[in-house]
Amino acid sequence: MTDTGTLPVTSPDRRPLVALYAGSFDPVTHGHEDLIKRTLTFADRLIVAVAHNVNKQPLFTVEERMHFIREVTGNDPRIEVRSFRGLLVDFARDTGARVNVRGLRAVSDFEYEFQIALMNRHLRPELETVFMTPSLDTTYISSSMVREVARFNGDVSGLVHPLVGDALMTRYAAMRAAGELPPLPATAKGGTPTGSAETGNAETGNTETGRSL
Ligand code: COA
Repeated sequence: MTDTGTLPVTSPDRRPLVALYAGSFDPVTHGHEDLIKRTLTFADRLIVAVAHNVNKQPLFTVEERMHFIREVTGNDPRIEVRSFRGLLVDFARDTGARVNVRGLRAVSDFEYEFQIALMNRHLRPELETVFMTPSLDTTYISSSMVREVARFNGDVSGLVHPLVGDALMTRYAAMRAAGELPPLPATAKGGTPTGSAETGNAETGNTETGRSL
């Protein structure tokens, strides 16, 4: 038998563990879904919080993003999908969340995440940040990459839920029809030849400044 010394074997704190998973979720990807599933292995409740992120110009509205999250998580009663403005720590305080979960996909995530975790601890020491290891096959996914693939008619089926994939294709088709995006280049599957090269985000005026990979 293992000697546990004077440490109690179980925590005396029996309050339900409410975890918070915040992000832009523009849109929710299989990577986010993976983290949500993992969090539910130890948390009693999870609040997935869609940020009104002032640093990003989203493709989908906050309401659309919340709808996608509810759908892809199968309306699990342990999950509450909310939106928030302002500081994460204030939202955590107001909702009773004690743990803030974050995924560390690569070493490159670490510096940024470590800095935010320390800032959040400075602002609210009661909120504990828990870094999770995502599944290996989702570590390369980011919402902005998914948007880029979808925008050029690429296959996003292994990256997002079919509902989200359809919504992406519909949104970009509507933007092209409205002249907000140029026609697809001839090389894009099913695209219309244009004779002009696409030039990344500059043509849409997309000024996303958030970390994307
Ligand atoms: N799987 C797949 N993708 C992941 C992922 C995972 N496990 N973890 C992160 N990502 C992606 C996201 O999709 C996002 O992609 P994108 O930039 O292409 O959209 C990117 O990695 C960054 O994710 P994240 O760090 O969660 O940024 P975010 O913009 O989605 O959310 C907030 C950041 C909202 C959580 C953060 O800015 C915040 O807390 N804001 C409130 C203000 C505040 O309190 N700031 C802290 C004190 S200064």
